[in-house]
Amino acid sequence: MSNGVRILFVGDVVGSTGRRTLLGVLPRLRERFAPLHFVVVNGENAAGGHGITSKIAREMFAAGVDVITLGNHTYRQSEIFKYLDEEQRILRPANFLRSQPGHGWCVVEHDGVRLGVLSISGNLFMNAGMPAFSEADAALYALRGKADHILVDMHAEATSEKVGLGWHLDGRVTAVVGTHTHVPTADMRVLPGGTAYITDVGMTGARGGVIGVRREQAIESMLTRMPVRFESSDDDPWLNAVLIETAVEPMRAQSIVGVLEPL
Ligand SMILES: [Fe+2]
Ligand SMILES: [Fe+2]
Repeated sequence: MSNGVRILFVGDVVGSTGRRTLLGVLPRLRERFAPLHFVVVNGENAAGGHGITSKIAREMFAAGVDVITLGNHTYRQSEIFKYLDEEQRILRPANFLRSQPGHGWCVVEHDGVRLGVLSISGNLFMNAGMPAFSEADAALYALRGKADHILVDMHAEATSEKVGLGWHLDGRVTAVVGTHTHVPTADMRVLPGGTAYITDVGMTGARGGVIGVRREQAIESMLTRMPVRFESSDDDPWLNAVLIETAVEPMRAQSIVGVLEPL
């Protein structure tokens, strides 16, 4: 038996279908995994697939979400810029430029356990202004002594970069979870140093689309190579997440399992 805490990390919430799925499924998962101590959600596609608004973020916090992480779509809604500076619990990647709105890590606390959450963007095929690995190290240095457990959301396209960061941080953080591709991978495990790892958690949205987009629009774009207006799909909504159980010792995980749940 363990006295660790349980953390649910939910993959990229896409559009109104993703939001409806998150809000609809979360109470069921709280019951199933009780006691569920922390809920962290990637919300970079929550506003119609493009970024997030302060209204949507507030709605997620009101539903019991502890921390929202973002990614390459962070600045798609200019309305969010001010909120990113003001609200501690919403994170853009820490390796964005210092001049860009927002911040990359925060600490939340439940039952005397402090969870640090760190958002990092990959560099391969991504637009982060600073290197992922050294900025992750810098953020962990800033977090030293401030958290019992740390969860890192590695928002990246390339699997190699995500696997690399997992190994780089193994034994120094509780979990490294990948996001951005919207497709869950089957490689979840606790690495030898004690860090829970998965290359991609997947997405929370319509499985009947193409990574969240209405499939006929995505296919038309791929087929014709002409500009097509993309809308979020609402066909066959699922929540994709991982449940991490921490060890009693700080910065160590006991288990990580995938959670794939229909609305
Ligand atoms: Fe995404
Ligand atoms: Fe992304």
